[in-house]
Amino acid sequence: MDHEQLSEEERIVIRFSHVVGEDTPKGLAARKFAKLMNERSGEHVEVQVFPNGILYKDSKEMEALSNGSIQMIAPATSKVTSLVPEWSVIDLPYAFESYEEVHDYIDGDTGQELIAKLDAKGYVMLGMWDNGFKQLTNRSYPILHPSDVADLKIRIMPSDILHEQFSIFGAVPIKVDFNTVFQSFEGGEIDGQENTMSNIASKNIHLQQKYLTVSNHGYLGYVLMMNKEFWNGLPEEVQLLITETLSEVSDWERELAKELNESELTEMEECACIEIHYISQAEKEIWEEAFEPVYEYYRKRFGAKYIDSLPKYKG
Ligand code: LMR
Repeated sequence: MDHEQLSEEERIVIRFSHVVGEDTPKGLAARKFAKLMNERSGEHVEVQVFPNGILYKDSKEMEALSNGSIQMIAPATSKVTSLVPEWSVIDLPYAFESYEEVHDYIDGDTGQELIAKLDAKGYVMLGMWDNGFKQLTNRSYPILHPSDVADLKIRIMPSDILHEQFSIFGAVPIKVDFNTVFQSFEGGEIDGQENTMSNIASKNIHLQQKYLTVSNHGYLGYVLMMNKEFWNGLPEEVQLLITETLSEVSDWERELAKELNESELTEMEECACIEIHYISQAEKEIWEEAFEPVYEYYRKRFGAKYIDSLPKYKG
């Protein structure tokens, strides 16, 4: 960009708040984005990254973005459902088999409708970063069958579909902010949880839990968001620099997310610090069938179109 176009007074500060650790796909990508933006704008645009929820917990970051206390966040799609509940289609268990399926869905007509709904609420979506597919952990026995979750207190992100996904089997889903999960285990408030390998490892959840089930039952990825008013007030060349830099960082982040989640699983196999079970194809089919009421629940609330365009129904 032409650095001469911005005076020192016009220095733009973008406070980017997120809740995960720095050595996670989102944490590393946020830092890379900040570094590139600062370099490429000749330090006229300063992206400041606040990790680990040090500024705002996950339950507060949307509000902080909305009132201008921060300018950028990257919440999990599950958390975006508090603004636009239709986004919970992404939470439907076994809705996607791969990262690419999720990207195609978001790039397709239905995904664009979801993005437009966010826009109508005053938020601009600037991209999507992956984390990975979620696995289950539990303190006292391995979860292999849907009935195994009955009566367990399970930590979830705030999403009605995630609530439904466990409550239909008699579990007690409990919404807990990401940075309080570890303490909630210590205090005995929760028995188990679902998350990606990188999130499990970065918060030492595997040291609190005895059993890990590699179920890959749900996707966890991030919506890169800015407040629309802030975005619209940025000079066009800054918007362009942000869009181009994010696109480059997103390609890098997606590769990194895959690698990190794979390597965390390998490390956990090697450290033997948690007992690992892999869901077999036959077990997966049992879970998928048992999850049908969750799809019904979504259909009843939001109609068929978001579900009908999922890859497994489109063929
Ligand atoms: C969680 O709350 O488990 C995740 O949304 C954390 C994150 O941002 O990956």
